Amino acid sequence: MSIKEKINLSKLPSHIAIIMDGNGRWAKQQGEERIFGHENGVKAVRDTVEGAAEIGVKYLTLYAFSTENWNRPQEEVAALMKLLVHTINIETETLNKNNIRLQAIGDLESLPKDCYDELQEAISNTKNNSSMTLVLALSYSSRWEIINAVRQIARGVEDKKLSAAEINESTIQNYLCTYNIPDPELMIRTSGEHRISNFLLWQLAYSELYFTDKFWPDFRKEDLFEAILDYQTRERRFGKTSEQLIS
Ligand code: FPP
Repeated sequence: MSIKEKINLSKLPSHIAIIMDGNGRWAKQQGEERIFGHENGVKAVRDTVEGAAEIGVKYLTLYAFSTENWNRPQEEVAALMKLLVHTINIETETLNKNNIRLQAIGDLESLPKDCYDELQEAISNTKNNSSMTLVLALSYSSRWEIINAVRQIARGVEDKKLSAAEINESTIQNYLCTYNIPDPELMIRTSGEHRISNFLLWQLAYSELYFTDKFWPDFRKEDLFEAILDYQTRERRFGKTSEQLIS
């Protein structure tokens, strides 16, 4: 029985979020420049997206570029942006063929214009697809997102559109970049690091976390399936007791 066949499709996480980490270390191991790692990371992206779509995952979010990544050497940032534009450009057709919708979260206006334009075009060209939504987190950080939400809510209070007492979880949820996306049930991080690194802090409140030592360029759909199998062995209690879950 293959790993894929072992997956219980009726207990599939509908949203999986991934911190793709380890491109630089992978490249170093091969005696190559960091960008070589990012280029090979694209192969992992392709295979993972394919795997997620094959089994029927509804949302896949990939942390492709954090707000903090702007502080990397200028050549690496420029090369990563070029790679993103290029990849989005050549993959749009495949997304359409596979009925996958592209979405992006983050401070998108801070992206270089060609990257922003390419992204918006791909988002618009895939907007009617419905089998899976691929969400790219770009120039994204969760604290930035939360500050942004708080500012908008505060403005609403100033303008007397709502009162402070009315603010609840859904008010905040509605102002996050993920307002139209369910919270991830599973978050995967590669490369042996056990951190969340400013990624979906609000949304991951009840997510199961899965860590693998593999560097991102080596990650394949079978690794995704392994992570899903592991997730399916876990008991999600949301603060309740095991007994309460059975009754
Ligand atoms: C983390 O590895 C990876 C990134 C910051 C970039 C991820 C980008 C890609 C996989 C390429 C294109 C993506 C898409 C969605 C088309 P790292 O550089 O932090 O590695 P290190 O921790 O070993 O230094």
